[in-house]
Amino acid sequence: MSEGDERTEDGSYWEGRGLRTFSYRGDRYYTVTPIAQYVRRRRWLLRRLERLLEALPTGGSVLDFGCGDGFYAVEIERRFPRLRIYGCDPSRAMIEAAAARAHRHRARVAFADCDEAMRHGPFDLVLIVAVLAHITDDARLRAVLAQIRDRLVPGGRVVVFEMTAQRELRGDAWRRRSPESYARLFADLGLELSATESLAAPFHDGVGARICRAVVRLGYSGDPLRANASVVYQRLTELLVAVAPIGDRLLRTCRAYTLYELRHPAHAPHKS
Ligand SMILES: C[S@@+](CC[C@H](N)C(=O)[O-])C[C@H]1O[C@@H](n2cnc3c(N)ncnc32)[C@H](O)[C@@H]1O
Repeated sequence: MSEGDERTEDGSYWEGRGLRTFSYRGDRYYTVTPIAQYVRRRRWLLRRLERLLEALPTGGSVLDFGCGDGFYAVEIERRFPRLRIYGCDPSRAMIEAAAARAHRHRARVAFADCDEAMRHGPFDLVLIVAVLAHITDDARLRAVLAQIRDRLVPGGRVVVFEMTAQRELRGDAWRRRSPESYARLFADLGLELSATESLAAPFHDGVGARICRAVVRLGYSGDPLRANASVVYQRLTELLVAVAPIGDRLLRTCRAYTLYELRHPAHAPHKS
């Protein structure tokens, strides 16, 4: 197991992240992604999920795997109260934040650690947002996905939304794999790809990323979470998000995230 995995898998890294939060426009966040882009990404993904959620039968079950602060699980329950929603995360701090969010919004979501939540399956849909990049060991990633596949109903869906990069990149607690390497892994596990899409993000490449990094270095001791807590930085990222549609030429937005819609075939031999 790599060093990055030890930090992420023993839970201490995410415990720390879950406990350090800041407020932005009436909500609390723990993210180190530039905040305006983060909020835009969350809204985009929720809209993108609507069609799949609408198609689920009443009483159908959805698991938000690696749910963090529970944002997606809670929003899905609010929009689709006829579904049964579960959220799981290995970090106790994240589970507590998620449960508090559900309580604030009077949402009926069962949050638990992942081993416990898996027992509620089989699931009609499993959502995995920004989790796989943090499972840096390939064998562990494969085992986690095989376990999820085995807790799907026949024909069940998995939606993966993940940081990707054409050239593989590694940080201390993450790994950006190529879109193709994920696609190969899903195919190998017998999960059929029904749709894929990439999302441009102005802060991972080009001018936008350089501006953000320089501001963080200059003003906030190199700490992106502290930067996100600052009003100056919040306004800056809002400005960059607003001008990003002007185009690739100005900010050189890059395809930093890939969404995969996967389907578990009704009758397929599994590879573990
Ligand atoms: C970047 S956060 C994303 C949280 C949430 N899905 C979202 O998009 O807001 C990554 C989350 O993955 C969780 N995580 C890390 N390793 C995991 C694993 N092996 N299984 C499940 N969750 C894991 C972390 O505890 C953390 O809450």
